[in-house]
Amino acid sequence: MNRFDASSTTDQVIEGISLEGKLAVVTGASSGLGLETCRVLAAAGATVLMVARDEDKLEAVAAQLLQAQPDAQLLTQRMDLADLNSVRNAATEILLYHSEIQLLINNAGVMACPLQRTAQDFEMQFGTNHLGHFLFTGLLSEALLDGAPGRVINLSSAGHKFARFNFDDPSYLRRPYDKWQAYGESKTANVLFTVGLDLRTRERGVRSFAVHPGAIMTNLGRHMEEADLVTLSEKSPSGQKLEFKSVEQGAATTVWAASSPQLSGRGGIYLEDCQIAATAVEGKSTGVEPYAVNQAAADRLWLLSEELVGQSFDY
Ligand SMILES: NC(=O)c1ccc[n+]([C@@H]2O[C@H](COP(=O)([O-])OP(=O)(O)OC[C@H]3O[C@@H](n4cnc5c(N)ncnc54)[C@H](OP(=O)(O)O)[C@@H]3O)[C@@H](O)[C@H]2O)c1
Repeated sequence: MNRFDASSTTDQVIEGISLEGKLAVVTGASSGLGLETCRVLAAAGATVLMVARDEDKLEAVAAQLLQAQPDAQLLTQRMDLADLNSVRNAATEILLYHSEIQLLINNAGVMACPLQRTAQDFEMQFGTNHLGHFLFTGLLSEALLDGAPGRVINLSSAGHKFARFNFDDPSYLRRPYDKWQAYGESKTANVLFTVGLDLRTRERGVRSFAVHPGAIMTNLGRHMEEADLVTLSEKSPSGQKLEFKSVEQGAATTVWAASSPQLSGRGGIYLEDCQIAATAVEGKSTGVEPYAVNQAAADRLWLLSEELVGQSFDY
């Protein structure tokens, strides 16, 4: 029986689990949920490769973690997900030193930014939250498969409920930009990617999970204004005000996904509140929308993503 829920913390879900001998690669390690995830995985004995775009910030938080946990095995790598060349360079550098990876936590993200474009001209939320991670995972796939059994965790969001993925115009070239719609599309893409990835790697022991962490006050809200909280409450199917979790509660579902034996033999699924989510029903703010786990849409996104990053992957 799974005794965890929305109130469970990272330390509670990892209790009694050792990650010794495992290499965990975590993106967005410089802040919020990613940093807490690194702390807990390292405390459980994993070697943690902290990945972030701002080298100074990354070195500073890694030094802080090390001060609190002198035994922690921490490594750092710079990578800007909004530039596919930076993703390629980072993956090349990682593979120089690591031929096997057991855990990949695709956690970095941006939310509801004004219309911005990545180095390769993709809309920023789509480019950062999905495409950068799609390429990064593909480039690390051989090391993941060689390190099996392993898991890939993709941070999605209940925000996937805001929008289906838009295959016709993913980068807002021919339609008015809507920052929440774009966030929703990118977070739907995170779930579809999870479904597509799990299908390709499960026979070889690498399972994938999409995670909604809950609502947590982090730097993710940097682009938000007062009015956005009202917008978010209105978008909530239950019409309820958002209930916030602590960072330790927010990162708990990621850590549970990465480490729990209760998920053995599972994959290609969406998790929230340290549980496997049910299919969404109208009027409830929990659950996963059927369009986000649709196999045909997952296949279509896979092909589109390969085309956009200009590379296919032989899983
Ligand atoms: N907090 C919530 O309520 C919530 C709810 C649902 C889902 N999520 C998801 O949880 C994940 C983590 O969010 P968080 O709340 O921990 O937010 P956060 O504190 O803002 O952390 C986001 C991380 O992503 C990094 N990042 C942003 N753009 C990047 C880029 N171009 N290249 C590389 N790294 C980049 C940030 O780097 P910098 O430090 O340099 O900015 C930071 O390390 C996100 O995927 C988010 O969508 C969060």
